[in-house]
Amino acid sequence: CGIIGITNKKCNIVDKLIVGLQRLEYRGYDSVGIAVINNDSINYKKGAGDLQSVMKRVNLSDLIGYTGIAHTRWATHGGVNDKNAHPHLDCTGNIAVVHNGVIRNFASLKFELESKGHKIISETDTELFAHLLEEEVNKNNNFIEALANALSKIDGTYSFGILYKKESEKIYFAKMRSPLIIGFNENVKAIASDLPALLDMTKTVLLLEDGEFGYISPTGFEIYKLLPGGGFRKLSVEEIALKVKTVELTPEAASKGGYQHFMIKEIYEQPNAIRETFEGNIEDPALIKAAEMISSSNRIFLTAAGTSYHASLVFSKILARRARLFSYPIISSEMSYVSSSLQSDDLVIAVSQSGETYDTLQAIREAKKMGAKIIAVTNVLGSAIVRESDFSLYTRAGPEIGVAATKTFLSQIMLLEMLSSFISYEIKTIDKDEKNNILNYLKYAPNLLQSSLEASDTLIPFLINFHKKNSSYILGRGLGSAIAMEGALKIKEITYLHAESYPAGESKHGPIALIEKDFPVYIVSTSDAYEIAGNAIEMAARNAKVIVVKPADLRLELKEDKRNIYFAEMPPSNNILELEPFILTPLFQILAYRLAVERGYNPDKPRNLAKTVTVE
Ligand code: G6P
Repeated sequence: CGIIGITNKKCNIVDKLIVGLQRLEYRGYDSVGIAVINNDSINYKKGAGDLQSVMKRVNLSDLIGYTGIAHTRWATHGGVNDKNAHPHLDCTGNIAVVHNGVIRNFASLKFELESKGHKIISETDTELFAHLLEEEVNKNNNFIEALANALSKIDGTYSFGILYKKESEKIYFAKMRSPLIIGFNENVKAIASDLPALLDMTKTVLLLEDGEFGYISPTGFEIYKLLPGGGFRKLSVEEIALKVKTVELTPEAASKGGYQHFMIKEIYEQPNAIRETFEGNIEDPALIKAAEMISSSNRIFLTAAGTSYHASLVFSKILARRARLFSYPIISSEMSYVSSSLQSDDLVIAVSQSGETYDTLQAIREAKKMGAKIIAVTNVLGSAIVRESDFSLYTRAGPEIGVAATKTFLSQIMLLEMLSSFISYEIKTIDKDEKNNILNYLKYAPNLLQSSLEASDTLIPFLINFHKKNSSYILGRGLGSAIAMEGALKIKEITYLHAESYPAGESKHGPIALIEKDFPVYIVSTSDAYEIAGNAIEMAARNAKVIVVKPADLRLELKEDKRNIYFAEMPPSNNILELEPFILTPLFQILAYRLAVERGYNPDKPRNLAKTVTVE
């Protein structure tokens, strides 16, 4: 979910809240809502659906207020309907709450509040917090005390934005393991889940930390901190001054720039994203430091979710090849089942473009408990995962708005491949010349990626015609199996067609049973896996329509009958494994995008998904 709150003395802030919501929709778009204070009463509007569709049904823009909060939801507690949309109010209508996170002690709280006579309307955990605040305010507490008491009664994750009718210029807030920032200038004070929501107003921001709460008002803000043993204290002016930062992002960087969708814009931005990632890291001593930390550790674990997990798999294969080092890739939500085997001399590399994914954050917490060291690889400075890691490396992809990750994926691969060459050199499986050769090839990768985008564009009409079934396989071996997994994920995420990736060699142990005439099978052919030719033939022999996606200079011996086998020739890789993800991935990204558009879906906002999942 995404939250935003704005207060000022001079003008109606509803349009600004709506712009902020647009920029936060990548965090979820199951429902939206806005609450404002006007003439000492709280007015609100909300509804199920994304911002555009709710705007058509309920005119959010005719709300008026100088102080207001807003929310765009990714449903956790309670289904997607108008009633469950935020904001949620207490019984008196004096308090309105928007929330990102999950309250774990939901059931006991609900029981307690209902037995005290509170009428709970929605199925959300958020509404309970509004009632809990009401209880605390009724005990004659001032609102800060009431908020601190209410926070001490909930267990879970949250960033809250809260209106209290009797203090009509203030927005109260609180943060625990869900992101929240304050942005401000002389006239306007705001809170939001993320920077893009605030960029039109200010570039001066403050990243709140867990356990912090307080309020903003048109003239300033106060921050308090919950103390571990109970109670709270106010942060001093000096403490606050240390947290304030100026950001360099522009609002344009977060807009579509003439493209129909963010996703296609971001796909075409990839050469630049990987170039920036290369140039921003090549001279940075951080890579040397990370390589030293890794090579002096016992075992290397990689943890990530979704697309970032696939980037970790690419890294794992390259590391095995160049550094002869085995690493253990673990999907972050699976970490807790193996973390008891971690030891204090192990190291975990957490890969997350947002640096906020709850599962990945939990995975590193589990690993830290066992004493393992953590290196974060993210695209977002100062994100939660960075703050909880021992050391961080940054991709330089710029903001990614499309829900399906594209440019952050190839930027992660660029950075991880650079890291792999530093590690290999550090542990002496390659010498200085070999290291420099790999880095020189990587320097050339943006050009190859550009050619790959152009080649993909030419092939897409043929492929769309080829992809006429509801299901497809994408098979690869070695490095190709990781690229295949990402290809299948892209197709599933935005076209809603079933696509399954499988290690090609394993496909004969089950998946081949599904093959029937013209079943589409993509074979991702990388230079570490010549044997894949046999798998292509096995599929074609059973009347599948096979398309081999390969670097143009990669020779595959297809001795048998070649009917039903087609080739998607991509730019040559010179057998340099590191270059192949940049050459072979774009075809699947563009195919997924074009298929989604052809099928009438909005690829930027696939159903049921969110860009950043900050819940379990
Ligand atoms: C969500 C997104 C995916 C993303 C994954 C991990 O599922 O829809 O696109 O790959 O989260 O996100 P992260 O920010 O940790 O890379």
